[in-house]
Amino acid sequence: MNYLPVSPDSLTQAAQILRNGGLVAFPTETVYGLGADAYNSAAIAKVFEVKERPRFDPLIIHISNVKTLEETADLSLLREDTRRKLFLLAENLWPGPLSLVLPKNKKIPEIATAGLETAAIRFPAHKAAQTLISLSGGAVAAPSANPFGSLSPTRAEHVRDKLGGKIDMILDGGQSQIGVESTVLDITGKSIKILRHGGTPKEEIEKLIGGVEDGFSKDQDFNGQNLSSGLASPGQLKSHYSPQKPLSVFSIEEIISLPFETDAAYLFFDGSARDAWLSARERNSALIRTLSEKGLVLEASARLFETLHELEKCQISRIFAQLAPFAGLGAAINDRLTRASIKS
Ligand code: TXA
Ligand code: MG
Repeated sequence: MNYLPVSPDSLTQAAQILRNGGLVAFPTETVYGLGADAYNSAAIAKVFEVKERPRFDPLIIHISNVKTLEETADLSLLREDTRRKLFLLAENLWPGPLSLVLPKNKKIPEIATAGLETAAIRFPAHKAAQTLISLSGGAVAAPSANPFGSLSPTRAEHVRDKLGGKIDMILDGGQSQIGVESTVLDITGKSIKILRHGGTPKEEIEKLIGGVEDGFSKDQDFNGQNLSSGLASPGQLKSHYSPQKPLSVFSIEEIISLPFETDAAYLFFDGSARDAWLSARERNSALIRTLSEKGLVLEASARLFETLHELEKCQISRIFAQLAPFAGLGAAINDRLTRASIKS
């Protein structure tokens, strides 16, 4: 396996691998993706195999310009008002951490979309990702580059630790800037639904197109075997993004009132909450991490998976995590923490 820093040479090499049906892990502004040529069903089958991902969980199709949208989606099936919303979203929020669920173009093989009539399409903002996509033929199917259900990778090293040896190349582009996955927005129905909270806050979407609903399924009791009927997006699985240590989420007031556990790790959203916890009672030698000293959500989201990757390797019994404020990217952070707290 090749493990190379992003450069014009490595990008050319990576694109060649994709064209030949191979798999390349590459950086994006959200998390690292595990890419395959979106038009090559054999290559996509390998993605499912390597990730041990259930075949019913569709992949996101990555493009590198809005023109390619027509190659991957069938816009003729959209109602006029939906099309208007699509262009507003694409003009203002692409490239960026937003995946739009649209009627799929027939050219995209069924395996990529798990047999759905729709495809989630994303135009990432990361320059290396854009170059790779355009050099490789214009459309790259890529889930996050981690084994199914485990923490998403925000560094090339995370990919190497969990998938190294199973894929053809890892492109190292340093740390992901946003650190949580893209927002998945379904604009195909009458009401517009957020299927997964992510890097594009709901508020930014609503500013452009008005109210959107939380599309979370009521029936989330998924047992890992079959897709329950109410599940619009498998990313809604309650238990997901799990670190290998039990994690529980709390408000800061709750963490302060809990009995202190010496062999637990404490993950705070901001420095003032941590200081309040520290000064409330005598605590000795706890493993403490703070996502953002000043409580900045972008910094916190960028560090979230990275910190969880670190903590899952520590000798601790469990992780206590403070929830973020719910506004903006805080919704995505809390979504990941809450799912990490539920055992499958
Ligand atoms: O930020 C991201 O989105 C990253 C980077 C690599 O772009 N990718 C990513 O992919 O997070 P993945 O496969 O880990 O998550 C894709 C999510 C899943 O929850 C999947 O169920 C949902 O998108 N999804 C994909 N296609 C869909 C469709 N046609 N309808 C509904 N949900 C879909
Ligand atoms: Mg994923």
